[in-house]
Amino acid sequence: MQIFLDTADIEQIKTATRLGVIDGVTTNPTHVSKTGGSPADLYPEICRLVDGPVSLETVGLDADTIVDEGRELAKIADNVVVKVPVMKEGLVAVKRLAAEGIRTNVTTTFSAVQALLAAKAGASYISPFVGRLDNIGHDGMELVDQIHTVYANYGYETEIIVAAVRHPQHVLQAGLIGADVCTMAFSVLEMLYDHPLTEAGIQQFLDDWKKVPQ
Ligand code: E4P
Repeated sequence: MQIFLDTADIEQIKTATRLGVIDGVTTNPTHVSKTGGSPADLYPEICRLVDGPVSLETVGLDADTIVDEGRELAKIADNVVVKVPVMKEGLVAVKRLAAEGIRTNVTTTFSAVQALLAAKAGASYISPFVGRLDNIGHDGMELVDQIHTVYANYGYETEIIVAAVRHPQHVLQAGLIGADVCTMAFSVLEMLYDHPLTEAGIQQFLDDWKKVPQ
């Protein structure tokens, strides 16, 4: 399973890249606004730092505007994936962008039929937001399972990015279902390394090592 970092924070991207487990980055307008930086500065820098796909989101609401934005974003670097919200005009734009060979990530997805339409439009990636579904009492990972089944049934090549991930269980479940990618905040990535038994085990080894004659 590929791991993407879900952020526009340059320092987080640099730190995570050093760990050697990051396959790509997803950004969104909220992430960008939190950095206080401008897309003109941030986007080329992120694309340079990341050896893998970098999703950059459009904000237009009609297909023509989204296509124009997508074309401009795609010019930034070869690894850009144009992120487009799942809505009627967004899907029209995805089809046009795909015809031009521009990769897309269809985002803000909350149902398997939305994911079906995105695949039919030629989306490269689909991003179901699991944590936000959990927040309203639904089961986000059940949605991932449904999308995985529908795509397998018909051989769609759209890759599933499990998004709005909140904890290591989401990551594990994504792997068990066979999702292609899990995108996560830096804080969730850090949680993947930690286990209380590992910490206690290392401490015990260090304590015992001190008793060994050197
Ligand atoms: C995915 O691509 C989104 O950027 C992201 O996961 C949004 O989720 P959140 O804002 O609920 O964390």
